[in-house]
Amino acid sequence: MANQYHPFLLLCLLLPLLSIASSSSHKHHQDHPALKSLHFSLYQHETINQTGYIIVNGVAGAGVGQTTTPFGTIFVFNDKMTTKPDSNSNVKGIAEGTSITSSLDGLRSVSYAKITLKINGYQGSISIVGGTHNIKPADHPVVGGTGDFMFVQGFVRSSPVDLQGVTVVYKIEFHLYWPPYAAAVHGF
Ligand SMILES: *[C@@H]1O[C@H](CO)[C@@H](O)[C@H](O)[C@H]1NC(C)=O
Repeated sequence: MANQYHPFLLLCLLLPLLSIASSSSHKHHQDHPALKSLHFSLYQHETINQTGYIIVNGVAGAGVGQTTTPFGTIFVFNDKMTTKPDSNSNVKGIAEGTSITSSLDGLRSVSYAKITLKINGYQGSISIVGGTHNIKPADHPVVGGTGDFMFVQGFVRSSPVDLQGVTVVYKIEFHLYWPPYAAAVHGF
């Protein structure tokens, strides 16, 4: 009996801790106001031999398939990005870039891209770089931007939506953050 914690006693012990936690997080919030951020999704449409081309043939591993390319393949793309999976929906961005197949199973590549955007009153571009998986979601760090996206960081997550046929579709989720010093340029 003496070893058992009484529920009320436990509450008395925990309550002060909880109030300290909430007041310190409140203070923290005042010291560091939330970063300015922007979150949205677009759909990237890539048609082989029309908006995306193999410009250097790979040398080993998997063959050219619906989702694979040989190790060392260099692929270049200029793809539109739309608001919905339907390729006829509004175009809000263009992704220009290249990817180099970097795994022998032909599924992974290292990519970089400049994504030009005109969305929600913002205009400019972001640059991304990172590893892509052809059939699984992948996160790409945002390394910077131009125009309204000057100094922006964050990441984009690309996920396959439709890998059948000559046009493949990826969903691209953007998670963009302006660091505090960006206010000096953008005046927000
Ligand atoms: C794309 O073009 C290459 C080179 O001409 C050709 O070998 C390949 O079959 C084409 N792919 C498709 C899906 O049309």
